[in-house]
Amino acid sequence: MKRIDAVYHVRGEAEFVDDAPRPAEMLYAAVFASPVAHGAILSLDTAAALALEGVAAVYTVADIPGQTLWGSIIADQPLLAKDEVTYVGQPIAVVVGKTAAIARQAVNRISLQVEERPPVLDPRQAFERGHIIGSPRTFVLGDVDQAWEQCDLILEGTCDIGGQEHLYLETQRARVIPQEGQALRVYSATQNPYAAQRTIAQMLGLPNHAIEVDVKRLGGGFGGKEEQATLWACLAALAAWRTHQPVELVLSRQEDLWMTGKRHPYISDFKIGVTQEGKILVYEVKHYQNAGAYADLSTAVLERSLFHSANAYFIPNVRISGASCRTNLPPNTALRGFGGPQAMFVMESAIAQVAEALGRPRGEIQSQNLLQLGDAFPYGQRLQTDGVRQTWREAEHIYRLAEIRDRIAQYNASHFETKQGYAVMPVCFGISFTATFMNQASALVHVYTDGSVSVTTGGVEMGQGLSTKIANLAVKAFGIGEQRIKIESTNTTRIANMSPTAASVTTDLNGQAMLLAIEQILARLKSVAAAQLGVDDPDRIAIINEQILYDGQPTDWTWDRLVATAFLTRTNLSAHAFYATPGIGFDRTKEKGTPFAYHVCGAAIVEVTLDCLRGTYKIDAVKIVHDLGRSVNPLVDRGQVEGGLAQGLGWMTIEDLQFNEKGRLLSKDLSTYKAPDVFFMPDEIAIQFLEDMENTTGPYGSKAVGEPPLMYGIGIFFALRQAMRAFKPQGEFAFASPLTPERVLCELYADELKEIAESIS
Ligand code: MTE
Ligand code: HPA
Ligand code: MOS
Repeated sequence: MKRIDAVYHVRGEAEFVDDAPRPAEMLYAAVFASPVAHGAILSLDTAAALALEGVAAVYTVADIPGQTLWGSIIADQPLLAKDEVTYVGQPIAVVVGKTAAIARQAVNRISLQVEERPPVLDPRQAFERGHIIGSPRTFVLGDVDQAWEQCDLILEGTCDIGGQEHLYLETQRARVIPQEGQALRVYSATQNPYAAQRTIAQMLGLPNHAIEVDVKRLGGGFGGKEEQATLWACLAALAAWRTHQPVELVLSRQEDLWMTGKRHPYISDFKIGVTQEGKILVYEVKHYQNAGAYADLSTAVLERSLFHSANAYFIPNVRISGASCRTNLPPNTALRGFGGPQAMFVMESAIAQVAEALGRPRGEIQSQNLLQLGDAFPYGQRLQTDGVRQTWREAEHIYRLAEIRDRIAQYNASHFETKQGYAVMPVCFGISFTATFMNQASALVHVYTDGSVSVTTGGVEMGQGLSTKIANLAVKAFGIGEQRIKIESTNTTRIANMSPTAASVTTDLNGQAMLLAIEQILARLKSVAAAQLGVDDPDRIAIINEQILYDGQPTDWTWDRLVATAFLTRTNLSAHAFYATPGIGFDRTKEKGTPFAYHVCGAAIVEVTLDCLRGTYKIDAVKIVHDLGRSVNPLVDRGQVEGGLAQGLGWMTIEDLQFNEKGRLLSKDLSTYKAPDVFFMPDEIAIQFLEDMENTTGPYGSKAVGEPPLMYGIGIFFALRQAMRAFKPQGEFAFASPLTPERVLCELYADELKEIAESIS
């Protein structure tokens, strides 16, 4: 099946929040946000803004009737700043006017007096001052302290890991339409409709049922709309509720870039101990997560970092700790991988350091320490697949790793100003929300009398192909044609208390819920068919290609006839069903349990050519073996692998978030923030699926695919490092990302740069 929305996208007909016809009386909101990273608000003057022709109102925190603080995990974030501002871009007031241009003009007339305070931007510094969100956490396996004594080699290092902008095509936005009484209908570009619903209700002091949130689709979310879409929906809702008029709030690209949080930068200290042969005996890591000014999802992101700190390796003794450190940056948030990528980068850095010290290829250290079936993770769960070793071996074999290694060695021996490098990147990613309670979903299925089918789930289509995969599953379960199925918008009135679309589990959870609903309807339809055919056993009835079969033999009944007859015999043709992932749980007091339903594994080989005079580089190839289970839709899944890879490669290399010392984002437009484009992508991308891997948790044996492939991109850092080493064997190269061409050049010529600097001074 092709993507069911592709035709709408290609024709420009796909509907987003602000595509529905505009109500005549709609007002447009714009946000006045803090220009400083830290300070006390002395005064706020909105008179000039209000006086502007076409301005309807200016709202501040004083206009919020209910709760003014929000946050899904810790409600510490003001919807609008009150006495204090703690990051550049923090909303202080909302202006509504007849047009968005008028509202923005009015925003520029607001004057604010702040007493500036020095901002804290460095997570380690925040940690030392005790600015910690939640509690620091530590996972332990084995006996770390005694293990150091068994080691032949112990190395320490620090990683300085950059953040990442989500760069969804559709910026943050919401449109809110007042309804009868106090009720509001909210169209929000959110991954988390229920969070928007309950937060708006709390803000206005209303019950949840007063707020209906509807999401047709997103122009990308990538985690940036899991928590952070809520704020903009709230501000639009406040204005709509106060004015009793429809209000739309759409951030411009620049506003979105400087006002919203990003992937967390981390500073992580590691210490690793190995035997002479390269067996890793012990690993210790401390993650200082740069959380930004409020909790957001930081503690959950940190938790996933702890889970993935040893990535795809078995290490008998580990101590993994981390803290979410409060700084004066915009609150950082979910971004594809959700803390996993940072943790895996540190692990790979430690292995690189070991390989360099032992004078061995990095791949050899990696491969001898890979997890195998039954191995324990530091959090107690055991690996239920041999996918880590299987995908590595498969990649080594089908892509002829030994030949790649020899070819690159030869290339480097015969080239001076360009060098090549390669790296293998294994990934083992846990599937489930780490907060066990979130692993639940429901679905609502209607069969209409004409045989057409309406499906609503709690999952949001955000480009990842969810609605196509849900439709695939419905077609398969019902045994009817795809033109019969309509995937409805995600709506809090049709589906209550939904989890966000996140953690790559949306098809798993919502697909299973829908299959349960379909099962109920099918059981009823089969009873009707059995009665009509005069047979006893409904289980011997099947529906295939819209034909009703009995014992595998065609009858003269079709889907249309059966549905129409079921209706006339008063059969319920609708079902709602609920699914909760079985067998998972985690004890945070012991930091042990079975947090994940299963793990997704894979391995990627990344090959690069580096221009050592310019610092620029080209990605020659990325060759992947990825475990998908039995794919529901191989085309969609391939797209997810490629897209995740692109985002991972960009994060490691060219996506460079620059803040100045006052906490102001300098790379706040697309001429200064570079994201991968088609020219940046590898010349060759090979993807091989391990399709024979069974999965008993996913629908029809499928596996989650959204996030794990991002981490293949980490390989490029180590491929580049190898090329740099080939040029400058004794160079001191930091484990700092992104490894931009500029940074490559500075590291290759560090000695020369130092000399020049000294001669100038
Ligand atoms: N793919 C596209 N095209 N757009 C997106 O916003 N988000 C990613 C991933 N793939 C995203 C995407 C993220 S962060 C997650 S968690 C998953 O999709 C969520 O969807 P799923 O649970 O259906 O995989
Ligand atoms: N992954 C993604 N999003 C989440 C998670 C998670 O584990 N927990 C809460 N939100
Ligand atoms: Mo994805 S970061 O879990 O939205």
